[in-house]
Amino acid sequence: MPNPGFDASRPHVSRVYDYLLGGKDNFAADRAVADQMIAALPAVQVGVRAQRDVLGRVVRYLVGEAGVGQLLDIGSGLPTAENVHEIAQRMDPATRVIYVDNDPVVLSHARALLADDEATFVADGDLRDPAGILAAPAVRDHLDWDQPVGLLMCGILHYILDEEDPAALTGTLYRALPPGSYVFIHHLLDTEDPATATLQDQMRAGLGRAQFRTMAQIRKLFDGLELVDPGVVPVSDWRPGAANPGPSGHPVLQMAAAGVARKA
Ligand SMILES: C[S@@+](CC[C@H](N)C(=O)[O-])C[C@H]1O[C@@H](n2cnc3c(N)ncnc32)[C@H](O)[C@@H]1O
Repeated sequence: MPNPGFDASRPHVSRVYDYLLGGKDNFAADRAVADQMIAALPAVQVGVRAQRDVLGRVVRYLVGEAGVGQLLDIGSGLPTAENVHEIAQRMDPATRVIYVDNDPVVLSHARALLADDEATFVADGDLRDPAGILAAPAVRDHLDWDQPVGLLMCGILHYILDEEDPAALTGTLYRALPPGSYVFIHHLLDTEDPATATLQDQMRAGLGRAQFRTMAQIRKLFDGLELVDPGVVPVSDWRPGAANPGPSGHPVLQMAAAGVARKA
């Protein structure tokens, strides 16, 4: 898959998201798109924080409860506070983490941050080419393919269009996972709320792509796997726990779903 390379004049999802999270690794074009999203949906930042929060809860569940010792995080994004490897390695310092992204800025930041880290690695890969991800040296060599893997796809599958056949892409990854592996998906929801359609339109206009899906369509992306409790649910209902006590009831939290499933 050709890599378009780095162009600061073109907005990119990772940097728009970084801006929405209050980060500094973004450019004017990214900020313009993010500001349009905020104007259309002022609570959008509540949603992106809920996304980071559920990602943290899932990592704690996988490493702390399910005993998964290695994570493959596709669409990992720019390093920010409370990164996957920091949460995972706080629970078990031996946890291997492989970050995969297709944004050159993400890759160079992550490589600089992780230069001295012997348990966390970075790979250039595109979810639209799952075989390429599986063949990437960091993915092939630094994961033990005889042991369960936690596959994280947080906030990425809604950038895969229906015509790109997301189920076929995820199926290729699922088939490669050893038994006992887990899959996490966070996905923006196609709901009746007109604010959802507005946000999707904004993302399509600013980022060139966005494909929100219904609960039923998101559940289908787990086909062949066993969902763990509580199944695919609005993002803040996924094992809220003590750190994030209960759903706040904010309508924006009904605009994303999260679920974790296990491969038997
Ligand atoms: C919204 S960010 C999510 C970051 C992080 N996973 C989180 O949830 O906080 C989406 C990330 O997916 C990456 N991405 C989008 N499409 C991708 C693709 N087809 N292959 C690999 N990475 C992709 C973007 O570069 C961006 O860093």
